[in-house]
Amino acid sequence: MHVCSLAVLPAHQNSGVARRLMERLETVGQEKGCCKLFLHTAWAMKEAIQLYEKLGYMKEGYLREHFYGEDFMVFSKFIKSSTPYLRVQANHSCVLNQQNKRKVHSSRG
Ligand SMILES: CC(C)(COP(=O)(O)OP(=O)(O)OC[C@H]1O[C@@H](n2cnc3c(N)ncnc32)[C@H](O)[C@@H]1OP(=O)(O)O)[C@@H](O)C(=O)NCCC(=O)NCCS
Repeated sequence: MHVCSLAVLPAHQNSGVARRLMERLETVGQEKGCCKLFLHTAWAMKEAIQLYEKLGYMKEGYLREHFYGEDFMVFSKFIKSSTPYLRVQANHSCVLNQQNKRKVHSSRG
């Protein structure tokens, strides 16, 4: 699941709105079977970075000059404990584990 953007009206900031929104989003994501939530934010958005780190999001990487020339950081969080892992086999086919039988690409029958 990808969060495109998040903003709280200045008059309502610092009262836990964003935290509650993110927590609710994680619950909805879990209910819908999502494993991982990811988002990106500008380097300069210190409040947002604090928020995401406080909620347990990990830095994944950087997007250089992503938007109006500004560098962005990518954050993510696993929201489901039984995350299906993607195994890349020697023959380069990909197999999802037993918990996710929806997609199986394999040349091995
Ligand atoms: C970032 C933003 C969404 C936070 O919304 P909020 O409702 O004020 O945040 P919350 O009250 O839920 O705060 C949760 C945590 O965020 C961090 N945080 C929020 N405002 C902060 C500030 N001014 N300075 C530092 N940390 C801040 C804190 O870690 C806070 O936890 P704490 O209250 O235990 O200290 C809000 O400041 C905003 O809309 N900013 C402008 C837009 C933006 O930067 N969007 C994010 C880009 S994707």
